[in-house]
Amino acid sequence: MTWQNIRISRFGGPEVLELVEQTAIPAPGPGEVRIKVLAAGTGFTDSFIRRGRYPDYKGKLPFTPGYELVGVIDKTGPGRTLPHEGELVAALSVTGGYGQYYVGPARFLVPVPEGLDPAEAVCIPLAYLTAFQMLTRVCRLPPGATILVIGASGSVGTAFLDLARHLGLKAIGTCSAGNTHAVERFGATAIDYRAGDSVRTVQQITAGGKGGVDAAFDAIGGAHFARSFACLAAGGMLVGYGSQAMAVGDEGLLSAGLGLVRLKLWGALRWLFGGRHTAWYSITDRRLTQPEEFKADMASLFGLLREGAIHPVVIDRLPLSAARDVHARIDAGGLGGKIVLLPWGTS
Ligand SMILES: NC(=O)c1ccc[n+]([C@@H]2O[C@H](COP(=O)([O-])OP(=O)(O)OC[C@H]3O[C@@H](n4cnc5c(N)ncnc54)[C@H](OP(=O)(O)O)[C@@H]3O)[C@@H](O)[C@H]2O)c1
Repeated sequence: MTWQNIRISRFGGPEVLELVEQTAIPAPGPGEVRIKVLAAGTGFTDSFIRRGRYPDYKGKLPFTPGYELVGVIDKTGPGRTLPHEGELVAALSVTGGYGQYYVGPARFLVPVPEGLDPAEAVCIPLAYLTAFQMLTRVCRLPPGATILVIGASGSVGTAFLDLARHLGLKAIGTCSAGNTHAVERFGATAIDYRAGDSVRTVQQITAGGKGGVDAAFDAIGGAHFARSFACLAAGGMLVGYGSQAMAVGDEGLLSAGLGLVRLKLWGALRWLFGGRHTAWYSITDRRLTQPEEFKADMASLFGLLREGAIHPVVIDRLPLSAARDVHARIDAGGLGGKIVLLPWGTS
């Protein structure tokens, strides 16, 4: 039996994504499982990896991209009793999701409750978990607090806004002009980051309250961290979690590195900055140090999804053959949500 996946044999633009027909279905090794993938999430991090600029994956070539997936355990490796064959699970795979089958370690898999739409469920392992952990673990914000979400119309951005609404937080989000509806649909205030001075706009919006936000979340990175830091109220916290400006070539490595150094310095010298402080967040680093928390938070989010308390924005469900177009759309920006690949077809 043949099966399909997407292969990257050299780093570059969307054209490096190739649909490949495979002949042998790989067997899982010890501690591994094979998953029949029902839904693979796509997002900017896949594009970052494809470009060969992602710090945590410079990878062996060729490889299959795909940071997150939901599927059914098809076969377990030798010596493995849990999870069971036939179980629906979610994986933060980092790579490998864009295929009909995925083989990888079993230890971080999380069960997905029956009855959930796999395309909505696949928004949880990367986008929702990232936002959830920053809101509830890194910042621990009380209801009524005000947050600033940079890049609020993207996969992680809309997850932030959805969770902020659920947690009773007030949200301000930056996006491009064509995407303000993607931000306002969650009851958040949208700011077009290309029009005028968005720092001043945040200061004006919050002038009647604390004169800044309680927390800001920024994945643009580099020089942009200073803009987000300037939006904080006294005692507020900036969480950096990406370097998108470097990924797309708007900034060099040096500028991205300086942004990180400044982030650390502000955190260390908080007494100089009215108690404003900072943190860096990485979902994969946190999973390594807190594996039980990772699983518990994923389970909580699947619970919220099942209750209808959160509403991931899936803008398209497409076959693997659309992967190149999907990456071209991710690179062009302005998506307003997540595109999900359905490796076994869209019907
Ligand atoms: N550290 C972690 O653990 C972690 C986990 C997940 C993701 N990430 C990172 O988070 C970032 C977002 O991922 P994603 O999948 O949500 O990407 P996405 O869907 O492509 O969203 C990107 C967002 O950034 C906005 N944007 C682009 N340039 C901007 C600028 N100069 N100023 C302000 N906003 C700008 C876009 O707005 P418009 O489209 O409206 O123009 C869009 O809302 C990526 O850098 C990713 O690598 C980090």
